[in-house]
Amino acid sequence: MKDNTLTSRMVIISGGTKGLGRSLSFEFARRGYEVVALFKSDEKAAQEMRHLSESQTLKIRCLKCNVTQFAEVQEISRQVSISGHQEVQIVHNACLQFQPKPMHLIEPDEYRAQSAVSAEGAFHLFKVFIKDLMACEQKLFSVILTEALRTQPRPKGFSAYLSGKAALQEFTESLKSEFTARGLAVHSFFPGYMDTDLTQNWDPRFRQSALATADQVAQAIVSELCEKRG
Ligand SMILES: NC(=O)c1ccc[n+]([C@@H]2O[C@H](COP(=O)([O-])OP(=O)(O)OC[C@H]3O[C@@H](n4cnc5c(N)ncnc54)[C@H](OP(=O)(O)O)[C@@H]3O)[C@@H](O)[C@H]2O)c1
Repeated sequence: MKDNTLTSRMVIISGGTKGLGRSLSFEFARRGYEVVALFKSDEKAAQEMRHLSESQTLKIRCLKCNVTQFAEVQEISRQVSISGHQEVQIVHNACLQFQPKPMHLIEPDEYRAQSAVSAEGAFHLFKVFIKDLMACEQKLFSVILTEALRTQPRPKGFSAYLSGKAALQEFTESLKSEFTARGLAVHSFFPGYMDTDLTQNWDPRFRQSALATADQVAQAIVSELCEKRG
């Protein structure tokens, strides 16, 4: 059933129940957004987030949706109505958990799966929501990339992850060139290392490069998006 509650600002965040996505969800919600946090499978994390947002009277809906499955993203569009909102943002933040490892140890399915979450996930969100998004007064589509994409030489062990992110970066550039003139604001963010579920089993030496927490990065991203939307 459609949710026809009309609030003026809505954001849909993929991977919105953990790590950076969770911090983004709370940051947007505290700023008065109706948040739709998509997650793939971790019901426990989603349930914990539902309780916390209820106790803080924040408008966060956690919905299960594997963004690599087009039909599942279509189903979300039947449950969540974005039309009628003055401003709608989509933030594609989801990423597949992985262990950094040399290329020759990566299996083909594992390699493909990174790109599926990053690039295909973004395309599915775009394809399903673009028509309603374009009908909103203010519309933004943002993606979370990684600082490692701008590092030379590339860190070792990240080939599948970075290939997926590079595909997402190119998707974003195409989205910019095709839709910016039509009023869609498209943004990319390049965070550095953060302690999250993604990184918790990585070699502890990666932690030495941690500069900011997920909450701090989320605050910076949401502040920038709120400034830019005006
Ligand atoms: N952590 C870092 O050091 C770091 C550095 C640079 C950039 N980033 C980027 O920041 C973003 C968030 O990373 P994170 O560290 O917060 O990751 P995380 O803690 O592992 O959280 C990832 C989230 O993505 C969801 N997800 C995974 N596959 C999905 C799918 N197919 N469909 C829908 N949701 C899916 C997960 O849902 P479930 O839990 O239900 O599976 C989870 O909510 C990613 O884009 C990552 O590349 C992270």
